[in-house]
Amino acid sequence: MADDFERMWADLAPIGRSSTSGGYFRQPFLGAETELRAWFVEQAIARGLVVEADGVGNVVAWWDTASPGAAASGAASSGAGGAVLTGSHLDSVLDGGAYDGPLGVVSALAAVDLLRSRGVVPLRRIGVSVFAEEEGSRFGLACLGSRLATGGLSWSDAQELRDRDGVFLADALASVDLPGGAGWPGGGVLDLSGVGTFVELHVEQGRDLVDRGAAVGVASEIWPHGRYRFDVTGEANHAGTTRMEDRADPMLTFAMTALAANKQARLSGSRATFGRVEVEPNGTNAVPSRVTAWLDARCASDAELADLVGAVTRQGTERAGRDGTALVVTAESVSASVAFDASLATAVAADHAGGDWPVIPTQAGHDAGILSAAGIPTAMLFVRNPTGVSHSPAESATVPDCLVGVSALADTLERLAGR
Ligand code: GLV
Ligand code: MN
Ligand code: MN
Repeated sequence: MADDFERMWADLAPIGRSSTSGGYFRQPFLGAETELRAWFVEQAIARGLVVEADGVGNVVAWWDTASPGAAASGAASSGAGGAVLTGSHLDSVLDGGAYDGPLGVVSALAAVDLLRSRGVVPLRRIGVSVFAEEEGSRFGLACLGSRLATGGLSWSDAQELRDRDGVFLADALASVDLPGGAGWPGGGVLDLSGVGTFVELHVEQGRDLVDRGAAVGVASEIWPHGRYRFDVTGEANHAGTTRMEDRADPMLTFAMTALAANKQARLSGSRATFGRVEVEPNGTNAVPSRVTAWLDARCASDAELADLVGAVTRQGTERAGRDGTALVVTAESVSASVAFDASLATAVAADHAGGDWPVIPTQAGHDAGILSAAGIPTAMLFVRNPTGVSHSPAESATVPDCLVGVSALADTLERLAGR
């Protein structure tokens, strides 16, 4: 098992890695991410798994022992409990870590190898999935592939999405060589109706497991979270000749709004981040005409999230009134809280020799949250991250912890899929 895991991990290490930061740029439907998807298909074929791919970049590799004559689709395996799906994503945030996403995919393949080496012949089909554009780093909407596959996002809404260069999603898909062929929308989307359970293994994105001294944990819930675009318009003018009192400077409104968001989140025990800003015309010697910034907000409950965003919007609007600018806030995506199947979480947590794994909440979004919200009983396993850092090149996990994760995932799959 260790060899399988480490060999696969070494295959992926150079793909999309920045030689300056050591972080990863694996944006969807571009070079590195496309290479990773092709690598995944090769790995699946090498294991004799049946590859099912769609027109939006989602792929499932089926270990089809349960119903050898069945067609290769999730839907075909409906019945007593349905198929068991496990996997994650291969795309990254801009300058992201190595583990967020790929750890779940590589661990899923390694878990299949481990189950085979144990002689397990599952009664239910097991699929290893890769969902497209989980991070929303290119088209702005997180979990794009799983939202489309579960019906949480419609074609008509998806076709409005554009990347930062104005490229429409459909054009990006048509320009890339996807294993599903046809591109979008002709290639359709995965049919998950036959999936009975989903399990996603993921690197932990905080320090909870480090503090608890546990190699692995199980998710209880995902905090509600959302992305909100703040458009502030003002008046472009000369940086030298325009008296300070004569300005309508959107940068000031944005700066005060960012401070307000930070204070509001601290006061309420929530999270608020402005991590992306665009300025027009972005010149050193000009008062800007427009600042567009994106707020990522996360709270313990849906009501607290609405309150937080409402308070930040109110304070930003008041400030805009004083600055002579205008603020418009648009919710680009809002994901409600997700409570994972509690009995499944308890069973997964109890599924190891040394005692119970801790069951912990997370503030990060995942495809698992989308599948759970779509009514598929879902569990998540986390692998300890010694730095506690994520969405950064500093994200980490040790090989021994990753191997504990693979065993925990294999144990979970074995019990869910029967033998
Ligand atoms: C995805 O990792 C997110 O939580 O934004
Ligand atoms: Mn992830
Ligand atoms: Mn992530």
